[in-house]
Amino acid sequence: METIKAGVIGLGRAGQMHLHNLMTIPEIDILQVADVFIDKFSDKISDLGFTNQTSDYHDILNNPEINTVFVFTSTDTHEQIVTDAANAGKNIFCEKPLSMDTNEEASANVLKAVKENHVKLQIGFNRRMDPQFHNIYEQVRSGKIGTPQVVKVTSRDPDLLPHDLIQRIGGLLFDFTMHDFDIARYMMGSNITEVYAKGGTLIDPTLKEINDIDTLALVVQFENGAYGLIDNSRKAVYGYDQRVEVFGSAGMLKAENVSNSTVELYTKDNETKKNPLPIFTQRYKEAYTIEMKAFVQSLLNGAPLVATGEDVIMAQRAAIAAQKSIKSGKPVKVDPVFKL
Ligand SMILES: NC(=O)c1ccc[n+]([C@@H]2O[C@H](COP(=O)([O-])OP(=O)(O)OC[C@H]3O[C@@H](n4cnc5c(N)ncnc54)[C@H](O)[C@@H]3O)[C@@H](O)[C@H]2O)c1
Repeated sequence: METIKAGVIGLGRAGQMHLHNLMTIPEIDILQVADVFIDKFSDKISDLGFTNQTSDYHDILNNPEINTVFVFTSTDTHEQIVTDAANAGKNIFCEKPLSMDTNEEASANVLKAVKENHVKLQIGFNRRMDPQFHNIYEQVRSGKIGTPQVVKVTSRDPDLLPHDLIQRIGGLLFDFTMHDFDIARYMMGSNITEVYAKGGTLIDPTLKEINDIDTLALVVQFENGAYGLIDNSRKAVYGYDQRVEVFGSAGMLKAENVSNSTVELYTKDNETKKNPLPIFTQRYKEAYTIEMKAFVQSLLNGAPLVATGEDVIMAQRAAIAAQKSIKSGKPVKVDPVFKL
């Protein structure tokens, strides 16, 4: 069996979750792991069998046996690490987004390095590979609901994130809504041309101190004339609320929340419905593994990448437009044309 010789960079929340999933894929052989705070993770990671550890990701890039790197570091490091990895000739899987900056040129330069070095880059838009959402995608593409006219995405986190984490991985728009812009665009098969956003701090006013919000309502227009509605919250007390609906000329497709149980309680004066799964690691467990398997198929057999550099730039453009719209109170145009 042909295997991918891999290095993993970043062992925080996302990194450890992915590491466990990667271990279940026989075609991936992880040779080295890195984190700037490697001492913090060393014992835990050694117990999993990864004893070749470093605090400097360049060691992975300089390891001639490694042909592929998985980048799960804080967002503010993605551009630099992906550029260095591309220049070192490694294929790359990188978590979203590439950047939380409003300057697109820097992200475009990363993609240029990827192109010039003839390596592959897949972005971690895992929701595309969620079995429920992917089923909607396939049925929309096959014309089951006619021409898609409106996509609705409800995406609510179970709880607020610590301020220091937000500063490393981006606020609501760049960390969270990023996924919703991508899934909406993926479902509609069309680029976003305009964003109108209302956002604020209805839950935690101290988020203003770090320029963030916790509640967001968005109207989106697509190049093909269709519309999108996205709503976000950082605190849904009942769990991780993830729903998608696509309405079209011949019908509607809709994915409800996934829950841990099929048990429903009915009594004379009470009806309790099962709550959604509590957190992203559980809700998208399958999707996280499927996106990695698809990446393997792309590397070994030339299958298409699940999500590309262009996809992440398009989502970043929408996030930047939403940021401007919240400030100005007006709809903001988004350039739907991507040229490298
Ligand atoms: N797709 C998803 O559903 C999903 C879910 C969670 C997080 N993420 C993304 O994953 C990324 C990481 O988020 P997180 O929540 O795990 O953050 P985190 O802070 O928990 O982990 C980041 C890790 O990267 C390490 N790191 C930072 N700079 C480094 C460097 N130069 N070299 C090596 N290691 C470095 C940190 O020490 C830390 O351990 C973010 O981009 C975030 O948006 C995606």
